[in-house]
Amino acid sequence: MTKILRYDSMNILVTGGAGFIGSHTAVTLAEAGYNPILIDDFSNAEPSVLDGLKSILGRAVTCYHGDCADRNLLRQIVSDFKISGVIHFAAFKAVGESMSDPLNYYRNNLGTTLALIEVMLEAGVSPFLFSSSCTVYGIPEKMPVTEETPVLPAMSVYGNTKQIGEEILQDTVAAGKKLKVILLRYFNPIGAHPSALIGELPRGVPGNIVPYMTQAAAGLRPPLTVYGNDYNTPDGYGVRDYIHVMDLAEAHVAALKYLLDKPDEPQCEVFNAGTGRGVSVLELIQSFERVTGVKMPYQIGPRRSGDVPMVYADAGKAQRVLGWQANRSLDEALADVWRWQQHLLK
Ligand code: UD1
Repeated sequence: MTKILRYDSMNILVTGGAGFIGSHTAVTLAEAGYNPILIDDFSNAEPSVLDGLKSILGRAVTCYHGDCADRNLLRQIVSDFKISGVIHFAAFKAVGESMSDPLNYYRNNLGTTLALIEVMLEAGVSPFLFSSSCTVYGIPEKMPVTEETPVLPAMSVYGNTKQIGEEILQDTVAAGKKLKVILLRYFNPIGAHPSALIGELPRGVPGNIVPYMTQAAAGLRPPLTVYGNDYNTPDGYGVRDYIHVMDLAEAHVAALKYLLDKPDEPQCEVFNAGTGRGVSVLELIQSFERVTGVKMPYQIGPRRSGDVPMVYADAGKAQRVLGWQANRSLDEALADVWRWQQHLLK
């Protein structure tokens, strides 16, 4: 009798899987041999993302349309699929909106995290990646920031939901619950898949600089207002660590592999996900113009309240422990995001 060997790829639950970072991570997971199972409520994502994923991967990706705080839906998913790990992206992320509607942000961002942890513990699923942010470092005293840089009181409700999310997971692990957690602190994700079939789809006026720049360069928005050029930084402009979303997606796959290989003991580790390079707003504009050949219309305005003058990562721990580092250049990220913007205009 012939023995039929079946290779079943591991199912990885990706909450917020139709969003910007979630959709790019779904591609990278699938290309690494995992089967991403998405859940998204499409409150800040378009169903067309699923068509983009299908075109890139050559097959449809499973996606549940629903609320990740819905425990019954999560139970349904873990009964439909044997889930081997979870990547939790689902969250509201607009800083300004979080200040005017705090309860909505606390309910959504904490409610989804609590429901997910509880259902994963019930189902015995232990690898858990949490989307955190460099916003937890506040205005750091020393640069670059390492994972040991102190976490400072949050400056926004959004930032507080990330800090509390980290604490919920840390406390759950400290209580001996069987979760293997990585808190990935993202710096500034930009770019798009090189195919231009998926990318960032901001609703309304983009709050983040790169999507605003591409829309302004395409003539869809008034000139960019640069929020201050009198900071105590090398050229006076704000400095950030812009990371290509495909590099960030690869960081998730590396972190997942690391957790899957670890013994099933309660544990929680923190990693910065950045490039280690600080880039000023002026350098960003100059790169954009060089790469696209398009003049970036901009004017200098006052500082934006709550902005940090400078923050960039020490990316050494992820390289040493996870074997991951960001490989794509700023120019590549800007070329990809511009190609995506042109695709949107078609
Ligand atoms: C912002 C959030 C941060 C969040 C991150 C998610 C604030 C204060 N911080 O980070 O909590 O985790 O987004 O992506 O909102 N800039 C301009 N003009 C613009 C927009 C931005 O000059 O129209 C400048 C900013 O002053 C800053 C840089 O561009 O120096 C990056 O800004 P942005 O893209 O909004 O990201 P962060 O402020 O770093």
